[in-house]
Amino acid sequence: MKSPIRNEKLKKLTILTGICACLIIIPIAIITGIVRAASGPEEVPAVSVEDIVSPTETTLAEGEVTSKGYKIEVVDGVTFINGILVVNKTYSLPKNYNPGGLTEDTQKAFEKMREAANKEGIRLWVQSGFRSYDRQKELYDRYNEERGTEYADAYSARPGYSEHQSGLSFDVNEAGTNFEETKEGQWIEKHAHEYGFIIRFPEGKAKFTGYEFEPWHLRYVGEELAKELTDNDLCLEEYLGITSEYK
Ligand code: DAL
Ligand code: ZN
Repeated sequence: MKSPIRNEKLKKLTILTGICACLIIIPIAIITGIVRAASGPEEVPAVSVEDIVSPTETTLAEGEVTSKGYKIEVVDGVTFINGILVVNKTYSLPKNYNPGGLTEDTQKAFEKMREAANKEGIRLWVQSGFRSYDRQKELYDRYNEERGTEYADAYSARPGYSEHQSGLSFDVNEAGTNFEETKEGQWIEKHAHEYGFIIRFPEGKAKFTGYEFEPWHLRYVGEELAKELTDNDLCLEEYLGITSEYK
């Protein structure tokens, strides 16, 4: 049988352990919450919500010329400028546009980049690749419902206006977790253009792209154009002389 003194000691030890655990766990929980709140948007799971904001109609400008002199061509509702497929807040895709996944060129270029990165100990993966119109609608509606339209429009495209629907874009690794500060994010910033990718929504270019900085969102444009845009610090809108605004 245990002595009353030993029992008392055991009780004190248990209480002390409990207090210590609280002192450690509570601050960690608070800090984790703050970091999460500050770390920007994350992919949100699909949920069925009301269609709060309907996409507006894009005024297509077939035959017009951009401010940089490039002719705008529209083929089956898809806009090409200087032969580049363009999707942004001004130029949408038809609702049923569906390449069925990332395009072959995009996938191949990603594999090449992934292997090169791997050799340097950098692990890359596609977190979110092709997204159908309906999937984009779920994501956008969710952002809109939870964070409001201003926030949703700064980070998420309305359905029909997302490059993810083109199969030419994807989010690499962890969207929304200060990706640019990770070794993977820094590798992407330095090398993505060598494989034909641009960081589509660069820092400080929201007035052209219509979106805040998304270091994880890559767009395949081919090696030549990717190098030209990266070397000259231009986003696609600046280079082509086009807008990205909902009408
Ligand atoms: N996050 C980008 C803008 C998209 O939703 O397509
Ligand atoms: Zn993206």
